[in-house]
Amino acid sequence: MVMIEPPPDDPEAQDFIDPPVHLVQLSDFHLLDDPRATLESGIAPEPRLECVLEALASQARPDLILVTGDLAHRGSPRAYDRIAGYLAAFGIPWYVIPGNHDDPRCMRRCFGGELMPDAIHVGSWRILLLDTAVADRPSGAISARALARLTETLTRDGARPTLVALHHPPCASGTAWLDAIGLTNAEALLVPLTAASGIRGVLFGHLHQDFEALSGGIVYAGCPSTAMQFPRGSQRPAVDPSRGGWRSLKLHATGLLESRVHWVDFPTEA
Ligand SMILES: [Fe+2]
Repeated sequence: MVMIEPPPDDPEAQDFIDPPVHLVQLSDFHLLDDPRATLESGIAPEPRLECVLEALASQARPDLILVTGDLAHRGSPRAYDRIAGYLAAFGIPWYVIPGNHDDPRCMRRCFGGELMPDAIHVGSWRILLLDTAVADRPSGAISARALARLTETLTRDGARPTLVALHHPPCASGTAWLDAIGLTNAEALLVPLTAASGIRGVLFGHLHQDFEALSGGIVYAGCPSTAMQFPRGSQRPAVDPSRGGWRSLKLHATGLLESRVHWVDFPTEA
């Protein structure tokens, strides 16, 4: 578990007045057109997503859900339609950003622009959503236009407690083959992020790992895939099919950020 920016006052006393926002990050469903189909690895992603969502539903209801990309393995509108059903069943706000396996235009048609905003304001916090998908490439990039918009937003109001969410990690993960397909212009993104005093965390998918790193007061947090994990440190693409999971975050009104990962073990035949 990571805790960022301890507040000066007693956080428990403040929580009575203004309860923290409970955010759930889901990522990398990799659903296929056919709900019973399997990926190249032999893994059936949809029953695994259902297992993870069932576990999530058995816990305290979050305030909102954010999905950080690779919702569909091949950008399938049928997969997006089923995902909308799964997430709407929670009865809370949910939002999505595209990953390298997604089709952003198809996502916008299926989900509508209101589920893919540039920013979410919740309590005293702000979550900035970035689309880093580049057509036909596994690596990602933030466009010059999005970077200019982000810089302008943070220049205007950089002190507000803020999370940034994107699919591709803007930092090295220590897993060589994943770092080779990361965010190609990460350094440009980090300039406005590290200049703004309010950035508490950067959330991403793509790694299929419970990655956490702390730098300059910002936590960089990867999210497990709901379908399969990519073992940390592997030199070549490899898959761990044994579990899936999600990340939960508590956004305290004081600016304190708490985060942890939850796992679901899969039977070998899942
Ligand atoms: Fe993925």
